[in-house]
Amino acid sequence: MNQFEELYAEFSMMLEKAATAADVAQVKADFVGKKGRVNDIMKGLKDMGPEERKTLGAASNSLKERIIAEIDRFLEDLERRQIDERLSRDWIDVTLSDAVLDKGLSSAGYHPLSLVQREVEDIFISMGFDILDGPHIEDDYHNFEALNIPANHPARDMQDTFWFADLHHLLRTHTSPIQVRGMEAHKPPFKFVGPGKVFRNEALDASHEACFHQIEGMMVGEDISVAHMIHFLKTLLSNIFKREIKVRLRPGYFPFVEPGFELDYECLLCGGKGCSVCKQVGWVEALGCGMVHPRVLEYGRIDPLVHNGFAFGLGLDRLTMMRYGIDDVRHLQDGDLRFVSQFKAY
Ligand code: DAH
Repeated sequence: MNQFEELYAEFSMMLEKAATAADVAQVKADFVGKKGRVNDIMKGLKDMGPEERKTLGAASNSLKERIIAEIDRFLEDLERRQIDERLSRDWIDVTLSDAVLDKGLSSAGYHPLSLVQREVEDIFISMGFDILDGPHIEDDYHNFEALNIPANHPARDMQDTFWFADLHHLLRTHTSPIQVRGMEAHKPPFKFVGPGKVFRNEALDASHEACFHQIEGMMVGEDISVAHMIHFLKTLLSNIFKREIKVRLRPGYFPFVEPGFELDYECLLCGGKGCSVCKQVGWVEALGCGMVHPRVLEYGRIDPLVHNGFAFGLGLDRLTMMRYGIDDVRHLQDGDLRFVSQFKAY
């Protein structure tokens, strides 16, 4: 019987020395594994008388159980100690100032797209607009139908859509469905903007990404005119570029507005004389806009005989590139910290 107590004491000593889970596994194999010490004793049982075999057999079984239970407890303890150790090692002081972080440690910065999006949002908030959000995964109704783009309408081909297998859901191709959701949730008069990611199945190059960013805008009330629209859009661009910006409207076709326009602004680089940035035209395309189509108002349960409004959709990627002089959209997506860390201000 003493033999068992000695073996247990030896086991306890070995276990005490174990520092890692691998050490523990070794101790386990040495004592209660197939070729372990307890099994050695059990093998010796076959040479004994029946009585002795019975008591010693029971004793070695209970020793084995004790050892295994002890090992389990030890492992749990070890894990807890390791977690505690990690917790006391890996921590950051979130109150540390930039000044401290700048001494060698890197601090987080805002992505230029976020900076421009926030700037645009702030400008619209200052003009009394709300900010709305919408889902990236849209349905056919919100992305197309309620925007006066019925099935088989050729305008569906204007945008290469990522469809889900059910053919009813898609990755929104523009932020315009936020208009539909805005009308569902609000009674006129209202004005809001809705920024976010949009997705199109396009070939990628220096100016095309399959995932890019837009901000949608909509204002609905009584007697809203194109002059209101020009006012808000001109104010936006002048605030973004921090100078008085000249704009012009050209006719443009979008099924959800009538009349529809493309709004250009005078090239900031050449002041309208023509250069490589504006492709010698003197003007840069900024956005699509127009007076909300009566059918779209009806889809939004707004009576077009009482209310009207304007809407616009503005690409944020190109605006960000213009604002910061970035020459390739792909920089905006590739997550290179050397690029992102250049933009800290907000
Ligand atoms: N949704 C259009 C696009 O992605 C942009 C647009 C044009 C939005 C005219 C509008 C609008 O709200 O009135 O190409």
